[in-house]
Amino acid sequence: MGKKVGIVNSGGDCAGLNAVIASIVRAGVRMGYEFVGFEKGWEGLLSPIKMRPLGIPEVAGISYLGGTILGTVNRGRFGAKQGAGDPRRIPREILQEAKENVEKCGLDGLIVIGGDGTLSGAMQLADVGVNLVGVPKTIDNDLSVTDRTFGFSTSCQIVVDALDRIHTTASSHGRVIFVETMGRHAGWIALRSGLAGGANAILLPEFAFDMRELLEFLRERQQRAGSSVVVVAEGVRIRDRSAARQRRDQEVMLGGAANMVMAALDEIAEPDEFEMRGVVLGHTQRGGTPNSADRMLSKAYGVAAIEAYDRGDFGKMVYYKNLTMMTCPIMEAVGTLKRVTEGDLEYHTARKLGVFVH
Ligand code: F6P
Repeated sequence: MGKKVGIVNSGGDCAGLNAVIASIVRAGVRMGYEFVGFEKGWEGLLSPIKMRPLGIPEVAGISYLGGTILGTVNRGRFGAKQGAGDPRRIPREILQEAKENVEKCGLDGLIVIGGDGTLSGAMQLADVGVNLVGVPKTIDNDLSVTDRTFGFSTSCQIVVDALDRIHTTASSHGRVIFVETMGRHAGWIALRSGLAGGANAILLPEFAFDMRELLEFLRERQQRAGSSVVVVAEGVRIRDRSAARQRRDQEVMLGGAANMVMAALDEIAEPDEFEMRGVVLGHTQRGGTPNSADRMLSKAYGVAAIEAYDRGDFGKMVYYKNLTMMTCPIMEAVGTLKRVTEGDLEYHTARKLGVFVH
């Protein structure tokens, strides 16, 4: 009893993060723990240390708030990785500094909330002997092992709400509107919300699509229905377009995947064949209050994390599978992204409903 634990959240924020923090603290205090929170991710744990006590008064009333009361960064001295690449080895002296700071702060260990990059860093810190439990966090829902990460459901709802509005204006003007969602390496947000929000086409990072097929699809739709809504994940790939060309197109077209697809379609369509518009939903998908599903999931993650810590499940991550919380070595959870496959229910359902999903 009476152990002190530090909480670190790092990487992009998402709805539900505050609810995880609050529930670690609320459940942990009842188990005899004390907590501090490090500010701005791992940076707060490195010198100069930036931390603050986290007790019941500090976490009261935060569970419904978006963002994170601790602040966060997705780069920095501890940055273990970006995207789908190999984890970067964190320099020994940085790991050592973090370890010494844990001791200097009188902490027994850490609970680390983060995505693939943050958890890669956590794993390396655990390897040098810091007691640590991980909690998965990614808006993209693309961590292997777990069925669901908090924030995903809220972001899908935000996209669906936007699509409901886009449909009516697309139809009034007879336009083709491209709606860009988050998802550089995995298209779960685009697929889920595109299906739920009645998108006519959904373009994912997992499968390169054929621009001519999209042209024919939209041509036929414009004649039959008069307007179309296309959901584009930001990591979309056009078949036979080299990666370099694709990158250049995205830069030229203001960095937007939706703009890139519109420009490529414009190249092969008849002049003025389609009146097109692009909408980039961007960080609206990560902001604001968590919905009920995410609040519930976040609370369950928080409780599971302090329970795992209390059992001494160090070097492990809690995860949600088949409606229960489980733990596995962090090593098993990082490095492999969960990406959309043709066998996934959402993909199959969209296909059978006549959605152009690629
Ligand atoms: O990985 C989460 C994510 O939200 C991606 O979907 C998106 O591409 C990226 O982060 C945006 O990062 P930033 O907040 O740095 O713009």
